Amino acid sequence: MAENISFTRDASRATIYSEIAPQISAIIDGEPDLIANLANTAAILKQALNFYWVGFYLARDGELVLGPFQGPLACTRIAFDRGVCGHCYTGKKTVIVPDVNEFPGHIACSTEAKSEIVVPLFDPDGRIVGVLDVDSDRLDDFNETDKTGLEEIARRLAVAFLPERVEIAGRAG
Ligand code: SME
Repeated sequence: MAENISFTRDASRATIYSEIAPQISAIIDGEPDLIANLANTAAILKQALNFYWVGFYLARDGELVLGPFQGPLACTRIAFDRGVCGHCYTGKKTVIVPDVNEFPGHIACSTEAKSEIVVPLFDPDGRIVGVLDVDSDRLDDFNETDKTGLEEIARRLAVAFLPERVEIAGRAG
């Protein structure tokens, strides 16, 4: 796989999302391991968009469990009915929270996090398998551009959740 990604520094987020999305697909095409692909996706999002925290929570045995991420230490387990992540997982829709202090039940992994966007992840059969969570240390940092860009990346990640790839990652089921 390519060892570098390319993106236009200081370009708009819309441009950067469109530049990195095919590069994420190329990485997934060349690598069967789920965890490796999620780890590199988190790294690309951190590097290209400089998010405060970006990472994955995966559905495991009835709750969301922390997966690959970039950023400060995060809580490891979230019940399906808790937090912004649980809300997204249960509702199967992207959730944008402009001010986390105004969201009832928000789980504060870091006091620095001020706004958040969480995007659902589906496997190729449309089953929900987890969420992609991004936190900002600025208020109101996410909008429709981020929703569109991150949902496109989530669509490209679906193939990474094919059962045989999940088995390679040692997480069958
Ligand atoms: N704030 C999230 C928890 C995960 S962290 O932000 C990394 C939530 O309320 O679900």
